[in-house]
Amino acid sequence: MLDIYTLGEDVLREECSDITDFDDALRVLSDAMIDTLEEADGVGLAGPQVGVSKKIFVVHIRGNKPMVFINPVIIGTSIETGPYEEGCLSIPGVYHEVIRPLGVTVQAQDLDGKPFTIEADGLLARVIQHENDHLHGKLYIDHLDQKSRDRLVHSYEKKNRIRRKQKARV
Ligand code: NI
Repeated sequence: MLDIYTLGEDVLREECSDITDFDDALRVLSDAMIDTLEEADGVGLAGPQVGVSKKIFVVHIRGNKPMVFINPVIIGTSIETGPYEEGCLSIPGVYHEVIRPLGVTVQAQDLDGKPFTIEADGLLARVIQHENDHLHGKLYIDHLDQKSRDRLVHSYEKKNRIRRKQKARV
């Protein structure tokens, strides 16, 4: 289980670097990210969220196999957009509707460096966009207007303080 970095950590705001070594260490990282994602009961996890400023994210939609995206590039998005309530393991406990394109085409590499292209819609399209943002130092709250973002961050910090207090007590 890897530590999940949360809002305020610099690594979440950095542009990630490309992955060039498709070696065992990459496989170990990817497996650990998938385990961490499962443990945290999330659907997606990106490198920066575990302190690794590299272009990798994993997606696990229940009922499907976990997927690994390395050096992904979104090469197309649908014109049609829509709302969906998003959360993030790096901003635990709060959620907000985000408007995004409903479909995406993404190019990426697998663990062997082999390129692949996926056309996605539904939840997968949503998660791909959210995780891809992480690789460019962007969080879902950046898509909100200033007022909604301030309100959400305030609510997150309040919850976080309570959680820290509870932790300190035990
Ligand atoms: Ni996230």
